[in-house]
Amino acid sequence: MIAWCFTGAGYMLKESVTVFENIKGKKVAFVSKGAEKIFERYSIKDYVERSADRVIYESLEGSPFFSAGIFYTKKFDAVIVSPATANTVAKIVRGIADTLVTNVVAQAIKNRVRLYAVPTDIEKDTHIRWIVFLPDKCDCDICYAEKKCRYGAVKKGKIDIMRCRLCGECIEVCKYCALKIVDKTINVRDVDIKNVERLATEAIVLKRPEEILKLL
Ligand SMILES: Cc1cc2nc3c(=O)[nH]c(=O)nc-3n(C[C@H](O)[C@H](O)[C@H](O)COP(=O)(O)O)c2cc1C
Repeated sequence: MIAWCFTGAGYMLKESVTVFENIKGKKVAFVSKGAEKIFERYSIKDYVERSADRVIYESLEGSPFFSAGIFYTKKFDAVIVSPATANTVAKIVRGIADTLVTNVVAQAIKNRVRLYAVPTDIEKDTHIRWIVFLPDKCDCDICYAEKKCRYGAVKKGKIDIMRCRLCGECIEVCKYCALKIVDKTINVRDVDIKNVERLATEAIVLKRPEEILKLL
């Protein structure tokens, strides 16, 4: 059985969910509060719930995170944190365990469960391409973006990031500018890169979620 922790990152989220779907065997998903919000806005929730045997949401659980006690049962072969935000990585390397995911990681280490992490902020000048959807601006009765999208990724009031190919065609027809593509190179902070280096003493750090499939 594996535990997969999702944190509040857009970068490598789609890839992480795809790998999660493709892993065989029993799977438990742990979802941080930040990840829950991104799941909601980008229609990820159903994909994860369909594929997992159990999904634990931080917002429904809260401290002291009883569910993290599951690692004392010795049923888990591995814990994977992917994508791992800079925030969660910073907490892990400082021994902080005040969120669902940092608690899962702490309990996994204490019980010698193998730990894999795919940090988002691992390399200077990381290129990201992401669709930003602003629901407050979305106010059409007829959604031209939905009509335009040939992948069925736009549904009134939501983007399905698993279907979205980031082609940007929807943006041209959205009258209220509720959609935009962010396409830029991020100046990843030195502190986050150093934190990832420190993380490597506790976890197997991977650059891409797809690498997990070869290791499990
Ligand atoms: C759309 C969106 C995408 C984000 N992507 C990232 C990301 O790729 N990496 C990151 O470190 N933080 C990202 N953040 C910021 C985190 O969600 C934020 O730091 C949050 O507090 C992380 O909480 P968590 O680590 O408990 O999940 C993103 C935020 C938003 C709204």
